[in-house]
Amino acid sequence: MDTMPQVLVKDVWKSFDGGRIEVLKGVTLEVAQGEVVALCGTSGCGKSTLLNVIAGLEEVDRGLVRVAGRDVVDESTRVDLLRQHIGYVFQLHHLMPDLTLAENCLVPVVAAGGQRKQGVARLHELAEATGVRSILGQRVRELSGGERQRGALVRALMNDPELLLCDEPTGALDESNRAKVFDLLLGLVRARGRTMIMATHDAELAGRCDRLVRMRDGRIEGDSR
Ligand SMILES: Nc1ncnc2c1ncn2[C@@H]1O[C@H](COP(=O)(O)OP(=O)(O)OP(=O)(O)O)[C@@H](O)[C@H]1O
Ligand SMILES: [Mg+2]
Repeated sequence: MDTMPQVLVKDVWKSFDGGRIEVLKGVTLEVAQGEVVALCGTSGCGKSTLLNVIAGLEEVDRGLVRVAGRDVVDESTRVDLLRQHIGYVFQLHHLMPDLTLAENCLVPVVAAGGQRKQGVARLHELAEATGVRSILGQRVRELSGGERQRGALVRALMNDPELLLCDEPTGALDESNRAKVFDLLLGLVRARGRTMIMATHDAELAGRCDRLVRMRDGRIEGDSR
């Protein structure tokens, strides 16, 4: 019996600036449910663009993108997947600066139609584990880069998403926090059998993933388990 891949990207091409900047040049990638994938490659090779394409945040020029068997080209599917299915830790945290960290984290819960009370309980648990509990009430504009990054991770995990897309999730953290946050992330993903694709420049963290996908100049040049 063949099982449906969690993520299916097939011969995807993506350019910017009316085709002048070609970024993805025929990317094909299949990720199974429960797989933890590191996405590596030099700066500018297209990692963030590929994650955005999978999340349906960037339209492709051509090719196929499916998440959980559903075509992200369709707008209502895309919105539904982003609310219910996907957690995204952006390279730049994308938290709302004038809201508190707690308010930011509760946005996806409310958007998915969840209950605030349960959201608050989960928020406290995740905040404790990532060391941001004491700063939940602070406005994001007052937080450090590392605090924002940990906050963004908490926000992405709030709905226990089936698919977690992480773009350099530990890039702004110091050594001890980096290991701690990644352990937490990996632990949660593994315990729940979730799927994760993580863009990273960190060879040590990449080595702890199930699979290493290496990109180069808009193409996949290596894929090893
Ligand atoms: N909206 C955009 N408009 C024009 N060019 C873009 C846009 N987004 C990305 N690019 C270009 O696409 C290329 C790939 O960018 P991308 O952010 O995907 O790289 P990356 O692999 O994530 O790099 P890094 O490791 O530095 O995060 C870069 O040359 C970038 O300038
Ligand atoms: Mg990037």
